[in-house]
Amino acid sequence: MKKIQEIIETCGKSEGNLISILQKIQEEEGYISVATMDTVSQILEIPVAKIYGVVTFYSQFRLKPVGKYLIMLCQGTACHVNGSAGIEETITEYLKIKDGETTADGLFTLENVACLGCCSLSPAMMISGETYGELNDKKVIKILKSYQQ
Ligand code: FES
Repeated sequence: MKKIQEIIETCGKSEGNLISILQKIQEEEGYISVATMDTVSQILEIPVAKIYGVVTFYSQFRLKPVGKYLIMLCQGTACHVNGSAGIEETITEYLKIKDGETTADGLFTLENVACLGCCSLSPAMMISGETYGELNDKKVIKILKSYQQ
């Protein structure tokens, strides 16, 4: 509650700042919970349904917690051409999660994203800010295993 209050004060307590407020909260907490929407609604004095509408409209917002490591798998054109669909299959098979899901142990969340900006390394992915390129099945599993240790 206190943290949310601080974020709202920094961004400016106005409905017009709702998106930037929610972005900052997500940066801090990893996702937007129902309790968070409730708190923001109380402080900004706007209906919780309106906040829910914004959170569900924009794909950048998450309603569920993310794993310790967020795998952003690029599905942009260059990566697609170079086999990102196969990489996704490998990740899904190995971790038993699909796009948008989190492993049961809370370690990984998989998210397909558009171009990561490193097309020369395609197919590419990012795990918690670290870029991995020129992926193949073997390499991906090796990388995932390194995070599991
Ligand atoms: S298309 Fe994947 S990094 Fe650009």
